[in-house]
Amino acid sequence: MDEKVNTMTAQSNNKNSVVYEIYVKSFCDSDGDGLGDLPGITSKLDYLANLGVDYLWLTPFYPSPQRDNGYDVSDYCAVDPRYGTMEDFDELVAAARERGMGIMLDMVLCHTSNQHEWFQRALAGEERYQRYYILRDGKGSMGPGDPGEPPTNWQCVFGGSAWEWEPRLGKWYLHMHDSSQPDVDWANPDVRDEMAGVVRFWKERGVTGFRFDVINLISKPEVIEDVPGDGSACRALVADGPHVHQYLKELVERSGIDGMVTVGEMASTGLENCIRYTNPDEHELGMSFSFHHLKVDYRDGNKWKLMDPDIVQLRRVLREWQEGMQAGGGCNALFWCNHDQPRAITRFGGTGLEGQRGGSWEHVGKMLAICSFAMRGTPYIFQGEELGMTNADYTSIEQFDDVESHNNYRILLEGGSSQEEALRAIQARSRDNGRTPMQWTAGENAGFTCGTPWLAVPANHVRINAEDEVGAAGSMYEFYCELIALRKGSQVLADGTVRFLDTGSGAPKVIAFERVLGSERVVAICSFDSEGCAVDADGLGIAACGDVLLSTHGGIGKLSHGALALRPYEALLIAC
Ligand code: GLC
Repeated sequence: MDEKVNTMTAQSNNKNSVVYEIYVKSFCDSDGDGLGDLPGITSKLDYLANLGVDYLWLTPFYPSPQRDNGYDVSDYCAVDPRYGTMEDFDELVAAARERGMGIMLDMVLCHTSNQHEWFQRALAGEERYQRYYILRDGKGSMGPGDPGEPPTNWQCVFGGSAWEWEPRLGKWYLHMHDSSQPDVDWANPDVRDEMAGVVRFWKERGVTGFRFDVINLISKPEVIEDVPGDGSACRALVADGPHVHQYLKELVERSGIDGMVTVGEMASTGLENCIRYTNPDEHELGMSFSFHHLKVDYRDGNKWKLMDPDIVQLRRVLREWQEGMQAGGGCNALFWCNHDQPRAITRFGGTGLEGQRGGSWEHVGKMLAICSFAMRGTPYIFQGEELGMTNADYTSIEQFDDVESHNNYRILLEGGSSQEEALRAIQARSRDNGRTPMQWTAGENAGFTCGTPWLAVPANHVRINAEDEVGAAGSMYEFYCELIALRKGSQVLADGTVRFLDTGSGAPKVIAFERVLGSERVVAICSFDSEGCAVDADGLGIAACGDVLLSTHGGIGKLSHGALALRPYEALLIAC
């Protein structure tokens, strides 16, 4: 076991790095069309370099009908004119490199858009391209031309059947996401060839890493049949499928990216598989995103049923993935936010934030940052997280754009929810919460665009914005700068072993863990409690600790009779 940990440490090239995700459509608009673009990103590189991040992960900017905001790709090797040109891209890569930052691209290789040339040629009757997709006859079909019923009861991730009838093919095609995103058939070696070519194309253009979209869904089960229940269980069946490791190894080898910074988005995955995806001995990927820690506020496992986050469960999940990946020599990508998630600061801090509750907005954001950055793995920041951006403040369904939000709003109404209830669920859980325009200034449209933004800017940009925070002592942005510098300069945070600690019975909503390397020991204590509480200092082994490396509230609370008092949402990073 120890041996594996060591190999990982020796080979991993990203253990000191911090990644910043840019949702291109919402980052910075340079030409006034209301959409962010590549030159917009280039214009903000100094802001990012100043923050201290190493890699910029760009969400898809390839030609796309935008049914799923670019995750429906119609041409893998080009730039959508809405986002700029290939020259703009090359310029961005070079300008980032000059500032010591690498570019990571998002590879959406599990499905194409139905506007992709391959699908269009399949529709036009070319058998070669029909074999690129997963096509089936309908249940109970009476022959060609009769759709019958969908081949199985599978439900797609965005709600509704995972099958779409295509009269031009006389078949149903499988789409795990939107109906405009047909899944490609990785069992076909020609598909695997094409995809390796796509990755090579971008590698040769100078990118330094890749994020692979829902990559653990590429190997479908040998037999495609009904699943028990309402059909949503198909996701677990499709996840981590029978040949996924073989396909990944092949992709990595053939595109020549072994050892580059790579991360796989793993939907409905399991620990054992993530160890295999990311243990360097396997030559698959550098790290993986898993999502179990972001389901602790799903009632009955249903994203659209609201409940407060269960912190006991959160601790259990984090512990399992931290200690489990360590034992197997795997590597976690550390994150709270991305373009598919509501903002963590709202999610874990409750409503009535933004200073209305005694400054808790600021403490929640800083506490979450400490918790994530102190864990074992590579920390990710999602644009605006470093400013403390919150969920959108939309009050009507028309303000939302996302296909998943609209599908589920309809499904909730059909299921008997009132409009108010359905809207409340969308407000809390919509992916658009993470996609609102970046808040650069307190001015019009938060300085994101001089045109009309594609998605409305939250009113709180007048208080939460880069212009006010950069250089302002104690601001969220400056706190992130400090934390990033600390993390990058700390060997124990990069390489140390991780172990979760018992906080004592008086602190069920506190998550604490240690990182240890040789004689160095750092302890992170993070309170998710909106009330004050007390942790057992002896149990945490901090009674004799010295330096507070970083804290949310400044300084440290009172230590009395072996108990350390914590204020609401207080977090401490202590060197022992
Ligand atoms: C991933 C992306 C998400 C997209 C989906 C389908 O989960 O992060 O935005 O909708 O894949 O490509």
